[in-house]
Amino acid sequence: QADEVEVAVFSVPSYACQRRTSLDNRNTVLTDALSLLAENAELSDQDGRGVAFRRAAAVMKSLPEPVTSMTQLRGLPCLGEHSLRVIRDVLENGASREVESMKQSKQYKALKVLTGVFGVGAKTAARWIREGIHTLHQLRNSGHTLNRAQQAGLEHYDDLNQQVSKAEAEAIQQIVEEVVASVLPGAKVTLTGGFRRGKLMGHDVDFLITHPEEGKEVGLMSKVVSWLESQGFLLYQKTTRNSYLVSDDSPALPPSNMDRFERCLSIFKLAQDQPHRAKQLGALPLDTAEHRRGDSGLQTDQDSCSQRIQTPGGQEDTKPWRAVRVDLVVSPISQFAFAVLGWTGSKLFERELRRWAGQEKAMSLSSHALYDNKKRKYLQASSEEEIFAHLDLEFIPPSERNA
Ligand code: GTP
Ligand code: MN
Ligand code: MN
Repeated sequence: QADEVEVAVFSVPSYACQRRTSLDNRNTVLTDALSLLAENAELSDQDGRGVAFRRAAAVMKSLPEPVTSMTQLRGLPCLGEHSLRVIRDVLENGASREVESMKQSKQYKALKVLTGVFGVGAKTAARWIREGIHTLHQLRNSGHTLNRAQQAGLEHYDDLNQQVSKAEAEAIQQIVEEVVASVLPGAKVTLTGGFRRGKLMGHDVDFLITHPEEGKEVGLMSKVVSWLESQGFLLYQKTTRNSYLVSDDSPALPPSNMDRFERCLSIFKLAQDQPHRAKQLGALPLDTAEHRRGDSGLQTDQDSCSQRIQTPGGQEDTKPWRAVRVDLVVSPISQFAFAVLGWTGSKLFERELRRWAGQEKAMSLSSHALYDNKKRKYLQASSEEEIFAHLDLEFIPPSERNA
């Protein structure tokens, strides 16, 4: 009789913020398939479907061992019909037909290439594709007027589509720390985003800056940016002013997930020494490395010249620097705990925290504050631990937030 009882093989709570998700993913084939479907949905302006696939992928990421049979999935949350079909396909055939054909589709390839340009979102890419623009070459020749971000994105396309290493993140951290210390002694720089979660690679480097004395952080961003700019560290930057107003009697939470901290989206010019560069490319002769890049599947041939400079002798060489996306955020110390929590990610973990707060606790969580809708008051916190406690959640350290 016992085998007729539906026993959950794994016990997985349904919100990602209730469970630990390390970087040690035992089900990468399955989660890659589900993540690709999520990505495609997001790129196709179908955010609802995107979240469903992200949640399914996150459940699989949290499992302690590889899944080999559908029966192991009994009782697991967030696995919809579609996700289960994909998982079954992968388990039975080694790959999902749907995912494989999507990866080969013209639409998906074009969306990937175009949204790979910094400053180009899914909507813009879709509009261009409807006009027949599928490659960077076609985009360049289309006569479209690109905004400043997109121009920079196109110019540094290859660099920005190459992952940022932990070593590069640390080099940038050193620069940012020096600048911050010189413009405001005592100010503190915290590495957030994927690198705080222990990732070894990332698509950008995220920093949160604060000062232990409330109010001292006002005006800090523009000073930091001016200094960086004067030293030639910035290839691009766009700073957005703080627009968060706290009033005493109303919940001044931002209307969307976007927070209102003073922030700077930038592209850094990171100096690189040649031997290090050669090591990164696997110490292969340059023509071989070039060839490998050409094999990446993305149609970046038109852009490989942007990785190169002409030396005075006329021969090609790698340029001695590379472009890296960097996000800077400034927070007052009173909101710092919420800001670190909000900027550490993963994106799904953050989304799940806010959903938990709203649906299970009648609270509103943002990167600025936590508001208790029943008690009609803000809950203070000076550490991430306190925020988890307010939310009745077991504390999950950054390295276990890789949902
Ligand atoms: P990689 O950069 O790809 O390594 O991953 P990441 O997790 O660092 O992603 P990303 O840099 O895009 O975002 C880092 C964190 O900042 C995530 O938790 C995001 O949710 C958060 N984030 C990004 N943009 C915003 C924003 O506009 N507002 C808020 N509140 N958070 C944001
Ligand atoms: Mn990041
Ligand atoms: Mn970022």
